[in-house]
Amino acid sequence: MKKNIDGSQSKVMKATAQAPANIAFVKYWGKADDALTLPRNSSISMNLDSLHTTTTVEFDAALTEDEITLGFFGEPDTVVSGSKRDRVSKVLDQVRARAKSSLRARVLSRNNFPAEAGIASSASAFAALTTAAISAFGLQLSETELSIQTRLAGSGSAARSIPDGFVVWEKGHDSASSFAHSIAGHTHWALYDIVLVVATGSKAVSSLEGHHLAATSPFYEARLRELPDRLHKIETAIRNHDLQSLGEESEKDMISFHTTAMTSQPPIFYWNGASVDVMAEIRALRGQGIPAYYTLDAGPNVHVLCEGENVAKVQTYFEKHPLVKHVFVAKAGPGVRLISEHLF
Ligand code: PMV
Repeated sequence: MKKNIDGSQSKVMKATAQAPANIAFVKYWGKADDALTLPRNSSISMNLDSLHTTTTVEFDAALTEDEITLGFFGEPDTVVSGSKRDRVSKVLDQVRARAKSSLRARVLSRNNFPAEAGIASSASAFAALTTAAISAFGLQLSETELSIQTRLAGSGSAARSIPDGFVVWEKGHDSASSFAHSIAGHTHWALYDIVLVVATGSKAVSSLEGHHLAATSPFYEARLRELPDRLHKIETAIRNHDLQSLGEESEKDMISFHTTAMTSQPPIFYWNGASVDVMAEIRALRGQGIPAYYTLDAGPNVHVLCEGENVAKVQTYFEKHPLVKHVFVAKAGPGVRLISEHLF
């Protein structure tokens, strides 16, 4: 119990969780159910070991409203209000409903990567927030239940940051059957993602909006038809450490996803001229015998998939590149973990 200034006592429950960002090889694009964040397609991704969010949630009876502080690497912690605070409070409300509690919370969430780096932070942020809030209440959830609870936070890809390593999010047919699970742990394969940041700043169209527009593309249904076969091929490639097959299928998926975005009404252009130039150079590197493949999320930055001695080669090549502002090197990593749990 915490002692207040007036001598009364408050119940304080606190926990800290750390969750990784992840990169999808088959992208989640489009929802079957908005309120439940049920996707139209299953997706598959890898957690990134060096890019993560660490979040502490402290429920405190002395608080009358949620206090949310966000900190990006190299920037001061900032108390947020408006829509940013509301989005976090909504997640806390879902956890409060589960815990049958009305306690307000103090939240401190820090990313170890810069805000302006243009790396999607919603997956790591919502996975860490949900896990810390669940743990602060002392609720015992299985990994499946935690991934479902995280999916309900609204950023579906966050559900994939819960399990270890290489992860499939099954689209399912209802809330209970739409969850993420590991198909191979992070030690299974030292696969690297070298993130080439070609543009900083937030994207013009959020993925939240993009999911709503997906079905307006005439190519969307064709994309969905391709996916069962691609998911199977990528899962097999991961099991067999088969970079060529993983890379070729990931590139196809990325092109299909961006084609869908560019042909929706209104169209969304996530990549830019620098992205296209960098992709051409990666194909040229491949022509010189360096097996490296690319994928792009809902943004212009290029993720290069490679392994072994080629990691340093690709990193060195792009660190000197005039179109590339930052290079981050990440490899397959674990899922969310609880750093501390304090129940007073
Ligand atoms: O989880 P959301 O709602 O931020 O959507 C993520 C969508 C993509 O990043 C484009 C693809 C993915 O599966 O990560």
